[in-house]
Amino acid sequence: MRLEILDDAEAVAAAAAERLAAASGHVALAGGSTPKRAYALAAERREDWRGVTLWLGDERLVPDEDERSNAAMIREHLLTRIARSRLPGFEPVRTELALEVAADDYDARLRAAGGALDLALMGLGPDAHTASLFPGKPALDEARRLAVGVPEAGMKPHVARVTLTFPAFAAAREVVFLVAGEDKAEALARAFGDTPDPAAPAGRIRPASGDLLVLADLAAAQRI
Ligand code: 6PG
Repeated sequence: MRLEILDDAEAVAAAAAERLAAASGHVALAGGSTPKRAYALAAERREDWRGVTLWLGDERLVPDEDERSNAAMIREHLLTRIARSRLPGFEPVRTELALEVAADDYDARLRAAGGALDLALMGLGPDAHTASLFPGKPALDEARRLAVGVPEAGMKPHVARVTLTFPAFAAAREVVFLVAGEDKAEALARAFGDTPDPAAPAGRIRPASGDLLVLADLAAAQRI
C-alpha cells in the first residue's frame, strides 16, 4: 500500500483524474460525492475514451434518473463531457431488475469481460465502508461472486445496492482510493493505519497482484 498525502480535496481530485485519464481496459468507478470533481477533471484531460469500459464499484437500486443513482452522477460529471464518437463503454447495473437478479447479471457481465479490472477508483465512508461493503454486513463474507446484492445499506441513502466484492477488487490490477475531508480521518486511520482494524472494510481491499494507492488530503490524513 502506498499513501500519498496531498494538500486538499482539489489536489486529490487532480491526482485521481490523472490516473483515470491514463487508464485503458476495464475501470470501476466510485459513487458518492468525493469523485465528482475527479471525473470532471478527467473529462477535461482526455478527449478520446475509446478503449476504456467503465463499471460501477457499487450502485443504488433506484431508477436511472434518480439523484441517488451513481450512474446518473457519472453521466453528469464525466460522460456528458465527452464527444459522442469518443465515448468509453459504460456498463451500468440494470437497476430495473430485482436485487439478486441485478447482482447476478452484473457478476456475469464482469466475468464475461474477463473478470479482472484494470483500475478501480474507490471512495471511503466515515464508517470505513467502501463501494457498498458496509461493516458487519453479509456482503463482506462473499468469497466467490464478483457482485452481490446488499438489501440493507449501512449508511444513507438507505436503499438496496449492488456492490462489487472483495474477490472482484482483489483481482484488480490497480486500486486507487480517493479520500478527502476531516470526517474521513478516523476511517482512514482504521483502514490504512499502522494497525489496521479488521472491522474496517476498506482496509480489506487488497489487490492480489496489483497496486494499492491511497490519495488523501491533509484533513483526512490527520490521524494516520
Ligand atoms: C456509494 C459509494 C460509497 C462512497 C462512500 C464515500 O455509492 O455510496 O460508492 O462507497 O464512495 O460512501 O462517499 P462520499 O464520497 O460521498 O463521502
